Amino acid sequence: MCGIIAITTRRKTNVSKMITSGLKRLEYRGYDSVGIATISEGKIQTMKDAGTIDQVTSRLSFDTLEGSTGIGHTRWATHGPPTRINAHPHADCSDSLMVVHNGIIDNYLSLRNDLKKQGHKFKSETDTEVLAHLIEEEFKSEKGPNAVIQAFKKALDKIEGTYAITLIHTADPTKIFLARKDSPLVIGVQDDTKFAASDIPAFLEYTKNAIVLKNGEVATLTPEAVYIEKNGFRVQPKPFIVSWTAESAQKSGYPHFMLKEIHEQPIALQNTLNVNVKALEEATKRILEAEKIIILAAGTSYHAGLSGYYQFQRLLKQKPIYPIIASEYETYNHLVDENTCILAVSQSGETLDVMKGLTAARKAGAKIISIANVIDSSIPRLSQVALYTKAGPEIGVAATKTHTAQVALLARLSLQLEYSLNVWNQQEFSSIITDFTSEVPSITRTVINQNEFKAKQLASIISDQNHSYFLARGKNLPIAMEGALKLKEISYIHAEAFPAGESKHGPIAIVEPKFPVFIISPKDETRKKMFSNSEEMKARGGYIISITHKDQEIVKRSDQSFLIPESSSPLITPISYVIPLQMISYYAAVHRGFDPDKPKNLAKTVTVE
Ligand code: F6R
Repeated sequence: MCGIIAITTRRKTNVSKMITSGLKRLEYRGYDSVGIATISEGKIQTMKDAGTIDQVTSRLSFDTLEGSTGIGHTRWATHGPPTRINAHPHADCSDSLMVVHNGIIDNYLSLRNDLKKQGHKFKSETDTEVLAHLIEEEFKSEKGPNAVIQAFKKALDKIEGTYAITLIHTADPTKIFLARKDSPLVIGVQDDTKFAASDIPAFLEYTKNAIVLKNGEVATLTPEAVYIEKNGFRVQPKPFIVSWTAESAQKSGYPHFMLKEIHEQPIALQNTLNVNVKALEEATKRILEAEKIIILAAGTSYHAGLSGYYQFQRLLKQKPIYPIIASEYETYNHLVDENTCILAVSQSGETLDVMKGLTAARKAGAKIISIANVIDSSIPRLSQVALYTKAGPEIGVAATKTHTAQVALLARLSLQLEYSLNVWNQQEFSSIITDFTSEVPSITRTVINQNEFKAKQLASIISDQNHSYFLARGKNLPIAMEGALKLKEISYIHAEAFPAGESKHGPIAIVEPKFPVFIISPKDETRKKMFSNSEEMKARGGYIISITHKDQEIVKRSDQSFLIPESSSPLITPISYVIPLQMISYYAAVHRGFDPDKPKNLAKTVTVE
């Protein structure tokens, strides 16, 4: 939530153009307002306004901002509506400094009152502006070459909450100052240019050398150097080379990132299933050693975790396993002790609800395994074992390729568990893994190719509807839940998923002619009961859309059917079945005239509670 980019360069160039292109790559993190500030000839220049980057750049010429040091921000509003005044960057009273911030300053009201009493004049309703005035206030009593960083650190000591901050100051015009607590910041390194950003794609077109700023660290960037400190001591930076390509963060001819990312699934799955076997074995050992397992995640990642839950409980029979929505963690904290293993699932690796749960669980002595897509992000760093999906950067706000990659990795983990539990001998296991690894990407490719046209047609049929249901039973429930989340978040058609048997306990009351009812019905133990549940809906006029393994019994009860090839393993079902639902949601959003990459009120990487 909120995208930050800061650049300082020795080159004789205006950084405003580079900052604008970096902001475009961060727009998935927030798009209700945007702004840039630079320092040129010792003076701050700034432009900002409400709207998306395209809307704002059609009114303001960011490119005309001069200077080779600057910061930019794309906002997802928390404090104060999305207006020009509330857009970042925020200045102090004398326009000698500018800050951009991602996170929430919990004690901003009391700080604001104190600062007002000291004579500071506030312009915006944001929590962030407090920072600018606090630094200004602290700077008054600082002298010498380190005055800005000293004032910055003193201001940080006074704030409570979460933050990723970048600061520029006319007293130190070629430097950028950064700090992080629970909101991500990554540094990009080139010989004569340094970057700081909320996420790697922001600077990927310039450099692949990166350093993750860790919690509690404060950094100073000059065009030539990176200086990091924590609690007053210098920290040796640990640079790494990013494996993502610049092209992977571009639309490459697709109209939207979401469609591109749906189509990237075969390769994302192939890469993900090329696993780090050592880490997988270590995760398996921890799961088997633990007395109980908690699966912790939010949103789409929670649905992947829920698929994992159904796989694990089949194998671990007596062991308690609790799938928990991360924001609800506190309710379950009493279950957690040193014999608990937490399995955290997160695309970004930065979701604050998950991080808060993990921090509490660590205090209780729990061991942590994580699945994340972003290398070295906060959640893997809180873990004893870090497993990675290798889906590449996901820019569309709605998670697609990272979801199927999470499900695939969890399925692979459950196969590893089967092996450790002696369900298979070595030879059988090798052949199962070979088949699984090749079948997952190839079925995914087939499902995309065979169903995209139909998904587009169906989207136009259901686009005038305001409500829809997604029904499944047992282990197929996460597929229905994910289908409903995708449809509602980008097309704004209200969508609800529930166990099919629950229909007659309430939800069927609102079914009327043309009401879309999605029936998730693979050829498994749930299928016969799904027949009668679809009949009940059809009898009330429901428009039945089934996702099925060419099951004629279900096809003949449906108005539309999406046919999924059968596979050698039921573990593939939650991957292959979700794909038509992603495509229907995408085309429904487009048909209704909405941008699927930027759903209203949402942003990717939720770094607030
Ligand atoms: C929906 C979506 C969100 C995320 C959720 C968790 O399409 O993307 O529901 O799944 O915010 O985010 P991560 O996976 O980054 O922890």
